[in-house]
Amino acid sequence: MKSTLTCAMLAGSVLFTALVSANENTDDYINTLTELGFPAPKDNQLVHIPPTLQDLEQSDVHPELKRVIRRGYDLFTDTQQLRGENVFNNMNCSSCHLGDGRMPFSAPVWPAAVTLPGYRGKNDHVNNLEERIAGCFTYSMNGKPPEYGSDDMLALAAYHQWLARGVPMYPEKPIYGRGFPAPERPEELSYERGEQLYQEQCAVCHGDNGGGLQVGEKTVFPAPWGDDSNNWGAGLVRLFTAAGFIKNNMPLGQPLSLSDQEAWDVAYFISSQERPQDPRYTGDVAETLEKYGPTFHKHSLYGQKRDSDGKVLGDHSNTGDKDFLKPDTVWPRTFE
Ligand code: HEC
Ligand code: HEC
Repeated sequence: MKSTLTCAMLAGSVLFTALVSANENTDDYINTLTELGFPAPKDNQLVHIPPTLQDLEQSDVHPELKRVIRRGYDLFTDTQQLRGENVFNNMNCSSCHLGDGRMPFSAPVWPAAVTLPGYRGKNDHVNNLEERIAGCFTYSMNGKPPEYGSDDMLALAAYHQWLARGVPMYPEKPIYGRGFPAPERPEELSYERGEQLYQEQCAVCHGDNGGGLQVGEKTVFPAPWGDDSNNWGAGLVRLFTAAGFIKNNMPLGQPLSLSDQEAWDVAYFISSQERPQDPRYTGDVAETLEKYGPTFHKHSLYGQKRDSDGKVLGDHSNTGDKDFLKPDTVWPRTFE
């Protein structure tokens, strides 16, 4: 078992190393991706190879800016250092944004730096980069964002903007590799098949009970469900997002190895497990579903009866490790 693990971890890092060393040349970069089975960019798509930290060291940006961008990278890849203050689960930003937030098809984070300020349906107002980052703290990290304008927020924003170096602001072309593109949804999804696949191919790292593995203060394997996972308001609870993430990235180091049916089945199984309450909870799961169903939860299993035992998902007031439901930074904005 240990050697399977080491093997898969190694495969993961070989993939990123290949992409990083193909950095200088767009053709090599695209070839590395298409050899793995990812689609080639379409003619009208914007291809951007985000700079690495090594590029940062070699660049002539001011040493103080280098220091801040490095700090942003450090927070992004080891977000557990903000545990108990801003982060209340076992996630790092890089638990979902693979390859330090640079990896195409794994929701690379730099597009936010060039497409915001922009309108977001999720909160029905115009968000800037800091508020987008705050969103992932609130839902994906089951936490509360560092203050707008604080050192940590500045550093994280600087890292995102550094990754977007050279991309025009508000690009007109669609961005190649953005988000977690999902395979087509099969006609039927199976909880049982998803569970079996999970036990066979995922549990070795993520644990039988979905709890992942934490060693000391470091997350080795994040928790796909339970108190140490993202809450019910996070983007990854949407079935298509989970299926897209899994298809493109899991098992670690073996992207695109699952069939579309398998990716959706295992996403369905994981999405049928409990996790901390959605911070937008009104105190009643049916009411919350009614309010956020049309824009969000129609894509998740929140408020629905689970296939295996009929349990209504999300019908609880458990907030996980944190002692509050909603961070007070989450406010409506009206410009009135
Ligand atoms: C549990 C998984 C998860 C974690 C952990 C996570 N995110 Fe995200 N993030 C997502 C998902 C899902 C999306 C939406 C992707 C999409 O549009 O399909 C997203 C989107 C983003 C975007 C917008 C990307 C774009 O294309 O505009 C940014 C920026 C971002 N996250 C930053 C962060 C930061 C910073 C952290 C850590 C504080 C973080 N994320 C942690 C899942 C996660
Ligand atoms: C070799 C170990 C390994 C295996 C096997 C593996 N994963 Fe992961 N998984 C990881 C790691 C590590 C991360 C975080 C990314 C990182 O740190 O590079 C992750 C991240 C995730 C995430 C996002 C974070 C979270 O916990 O929600 C999901 C969902 C996930 N894996 C699902 C799966 C599924 C489904 C399978 C089986 C098909 C699987 N993984 C197999 C190691 C593994």
